[in-house]
Amino acid sequence: MSTPPLTTGLSKFMDRRAFLRTSAVTGAGVCLATSKSAIAQGEQAGRTIKCALIGCGAQGDRLRVAAAKIPTGIQWVAVADIWKYNRNPVARRMEFENKHQVEGPVAQYEEVEEMLDKHPEIEAVFIATPDHLHAPFSRLCLEKGKSVYCEKMMSNTIEGARDMVKAGRENKGIFQIGHQRHSNPRYIHLREKILKAGLLGRVTHCYGQWNRGVAASQPLGIPKKQEIPAEMLSKYGFGSMEEFRNWRWFAKYGGGPISDLGAHQIDMFNWMYETTPVSLFAAGGVDYYDGTPGPDGQPKAKFELPDNVMCLYEYQTKDGIMRAYYQVLTTTGSQGYYEKHMGVNGSAIISESPTYNQVYAEPGQDWTQWTSGDNPLLVKAPDAVKNKFWEHPRSWAKPQPKSYNVTGVAKAVADARESKALDPWEIPVILDVYPHTPHVANFIESVQMKKPEHLTCNVMDAFKSCVTVLKAYECMKSGEKYIFKDEDFEV
Ligand SMILES: NC(=O)c1ccc[n+]([C@@H]2O[C@H](COP(=O)([O-])OP(=O)(O)OC[C@H]3O[C@@H](n4cnc5c(N)ncnc54)[C@H](O)[C@@H]3O)[C@@H](O)[C@H]2O)c1
Repeated sequence: MSTPPLTTGLSKFMDRRAFLRTSAVTGAGVCLATSKSAIAQGEQAGRTIKCALIGCGAQGDRLRVAAAKIPTGIQWVAVADIWKYNRNPVARRMEFENKHQVEGPVAQYEEVEEMLDKHPEIEAVFIATPDHLHAPFSRLCLEKGKSVYCEKMMSNTIEGARDMVKAGRENKGIFQIGHQRHSNPRYIHLREKILKAGLLGRVTHCYGQWNRGVAASQPLGIPKKQEIPAEMLSKYGFGSMEEFRNWRWFAKYGGGPISDLGAHQIDMFNWMYETTPVSLFAAGGVDYYDGTPGPDGQPKAKFELPDNVMCLYEYQTKDGIMRAYYQVLTTTGSQGYYEKHMGVNGSAIISESPTYNQVYAEPGQDWTQWTSGDNPLLVKAPDAVKNKFWEHPRSWAKPQPKSYNVTGVAKAVADARESKALDPWEIPVILDVYPHTPHVANFIESVQMKKPEHLTCNVMDAFKSCVTVLKAYECMKSGEKYIFKDEDFEV
């Protein structure tokens, strides 16, 4: 798996302290243009890329917001979406954001092909449709000579994802997949600085979870008078308005919660250790959201794909076997979403949510060389922190050591079997923009410079993650441990 370059653009999204940390430790800060080609690259670097968006739903709009934080580089030309209710407001907001560059409308289309044909000036396309459309739309755009930023999960099928890799190879466009953690400076710091420096020692276990609670799993309704006529839905392959809105629950369009949420975090197991798993055991099912009446007597949502999945992956790393456990639950939001990397010398907890940022040293570790000097890799965690490991994040003060009163009677009795509290540190890198912004910036920079090697998440790496996740379905079906074959990860 390729090592991501630290994008020069990242410096724009971190506070100075964080930028200094990251640039100093990678040596990949702002590059100095000296050679002719470097000067040419520099000229390319700031140029405006004419962009289009396919799919103006929740994530499409988030990409628009993320892109708006990039100081230069994007001019929106057109959008395509079959649902005017989503399409119109996004186009209007884009027009507002374009204002400092151009006047005039952002063109709106129902059909993707028509948009591409009418706007040859489009250089890059963002795709944020339901997952089953990622493969055909990516291929279409690449074949028309565009660069593509396609949202995760690459596809709801391994065949679809494989075709995307092929389409990427057959065409010249820059092709990025939206696993935005690859461009997140805090994640890059953990991977490049903490793990590679060996601070945690041999990592024997990883853990990841995304618990997204009951309320978030309720069906998305249909806004008043915004129903798409049945014949139009059917023309675009949707069975009903309910399926169109809740496409994630159905195998025809999406991959269920393990793909929707697990895509981000299982991808991190592969990316952090630059490898793919050797085996997988998975269990899950539609155990709650089966359409039967819920506690309020009303029918619960009806998932076709498992509403909860637990996976156990085994990785053969250079240091030995590493087991990674992952769970996605929709019946509880308990303790949210984060990943944990556990080594014999220390553990690191990380999430896109900045409240999860803890690195713990095991007893007896001397981390002075990494925690002192001008550019420490870790800084001391404050004594009072927001602790997300309670259900409602709140300030938490580190317990004081046990003490004894004058009579020699312990005020607090420690259980001799209890492990000593670990020494807490944190990663001194703060992302002060929307989590998708650095990833969108990385894509735009790669398009500007026409450098696919600049991408932090290329299509082949994303394909391997897609296989790692979607094989869980095969495993759940057979009830047996799945042993990955080399060809599973080849195209
Ligand atoms: N990277 C992330 O953090 C992240 C977060 C959320 C969603 N996503 C991904 O973004 C994608 C979209 O998710 P969402 O939550 O925005 O879904 P959504 O249902 O809110 O939006 C999907 C949009 O696609 C449109 N669409 C459907 N068929 C179309 C067609 N044939 N042509 C053009 N447009 C069509 C719909 O009308 C809708 O506006 C998914 O792949 C999802 O996995 C990524």
